[in-house]
Amino acid sequence: MAAGCDGSHHAPPVEPHLIPEDLSPGDAQEGTRDWSDVSVHSVPHSDDPDFALAYERLWLEFGTRGEMETRKVIEERLAWDPAEPVSLPKGGKAALYYELLMLRRGGQVAAMRDHTAVVRLGPGNRPLAPVVVHLSHAFVEPAHRGTGLIAWVRSLPLQAARRCAAEAGAKPGSPILLVAEMEPPDPLDVPRMARLRSYGRASFQKIDPAEAPYAQPDFRPPEVLAGSKARAVPLHLVVRRVGRESEETMPASEVAAIVDSIYAVYGVHTPAAALDPLRADAARWLARTARFRLLPPTA
Ligand SMILES: CC(C)(COP(=O)(O)OP(=O)(O)OC[C@H]1O[C@@H](n2cnc3c(N)ncnc32)[C@H](O)[C@@H]1OP(=O)(O)O)[C@@H](O)C(=O)NCCC(=O)NCCS
Repeated sequence: MAAGCDGSHHAPPVEPHLIPEDLSPGDAQEGTRDWSDVSVHSVPHSDDPDFALAYERLWLEFGTRGEMETRKVIEERLAWDPAEPVSLPKGGKAALYYELLMLRRGGQVAAMRDHTAVVRLGPGNRPLAPVVVHLSHAFVEPAHRGTGLIAWVRSLPLQAARRCAAEAGAKPGSPILLVAEMEPPDPLDVPRMARLRSYGRASFQKIDPAEAPYAQPDFRPPEVLAGSKARAVPLHLVVRRVGRESEETMPASEVAAIVDSIYAVYGVHTPAAALDPLRADAARWLARTARFRLLPPTA
């Protein structure tokens, strides 16, 4: 590791890059094409010029649908340090690494995405497998849709997983799970069905929602929540089990890792009153099934 100008020994920040081996089996063919005009920038903090650009673009797409966090929350997530894990209510801790990526093609903004890698830590801060990456938003500019760029957008979070694992002291090669919370299929909702098909092509599978009735917490502000009953949002968990994409079931321990990791991410900004009932529900349904069925995202 090189010493910095100030004599410190921090590793220089490494921009994520396109790693063909990280493409999902369904996307592997993109690795054979020329992508040398694509650059990836990991936005380090909110003063970076790409922060405002990425946030505004994501807000335009997702904010109006109530699917985007406030600017303040995103700024705070960017400041998370996986070397300083957060405490979890059931005991243990979690190392969190949030990343906001900007992709350019031929110098033009082409796509952006954000996600959080989570390494749960057991007694003595021992890293627990698997590393879970909670996928928040993915956006491909209309001119770049259908070009295959999405394959890279969906594989870049693997690098965040490895970085978080390394910073949390995990051994190299920890298994990685990517997870997105998706709305249930609705044949009348054309863009939603296209999204789900696209995830399916990229080797993502849905955990059978009959066995895993996952719900996202009510994100409305505490002053609104105080005067009404919390409304959790039932969503489907759509996962890529890296390296094990063709298996048809997954163990309850991995589903539990996913739920604990997502709630660890939300727990930083969401009051325990909104999350604790969901954690209790999840504990009940997780105890009912040993191996969870995996289905196509569109099922
Ligand atoms: C979802 C999204 C990231 C997928 O990227 P993509 O490059 O379009 O992905 P795909 O190439 O797999 O195509 C998805 C569908 O859009 C269609 N499509 C292809 N080119 C397109 C274009 N230029 N414009 C619109 N749709 C297009 C594809 O044909 C496909 O539909 P199909 O299953 O009927 O073939 C992108 O469409 C997007 O940014 N949408 C808005 C934001 C969003 O919904 N994000 C995902 C939720 S986090």
